[in-house]
Amino acid sequence: MPIQFVWDKSYSVGHALLDSQHQGMFERANALKEDLTEKQVRKIVMELYRYTREHFKEEEKMMQETGYPKRKDHIRLHNELITRLNDVSNQPFDSREAIWVFKKFVYDWLTEHILYQDKDYFQFRQNRKF
Ligand SMILES: [Fe+2]
Ligand SMILES: [Fe+2]
Repeated sequence: MPIQFVWDKSYSVGHALLDSQHQGMFERANALKEDLTEKQVRKIVMELYRYTREHFKEEEKMMQETGYPKRKDHIRLHNELITRLNDVSNQPFDSREAIWVFKKFVYDWLTEHILYQDKDYFQFRQNRKF
């Protein structure tokens, strides 16, 4: 079964810029199709890697500015994905299955991260008192 990232408002963290960046990550991950050549897949993985890195930087800056107490753990999770994307970009994508497995990994990681970790941060933002 092909994997498709479908945005709906359950993914919204209530911040326009970060929501649009999360959607941008979905779009880039959706560009991964099982019938692409290895070269095309690598290009998409690299683009996803760069886009994700920029998004994480932005999110981490906000966490620092707002004094999010779980910031360190959150950054550790971000770094794990970045490392994985970087590693994967050196691995072969020589079969439909290899592409599917990678896309599934990205799907599980991203949806879980947005729904639980990113939302936890936005819960914190909403509740904080100045
Ligand atoms: Fe995020
Ligand atoms: Fe995050």
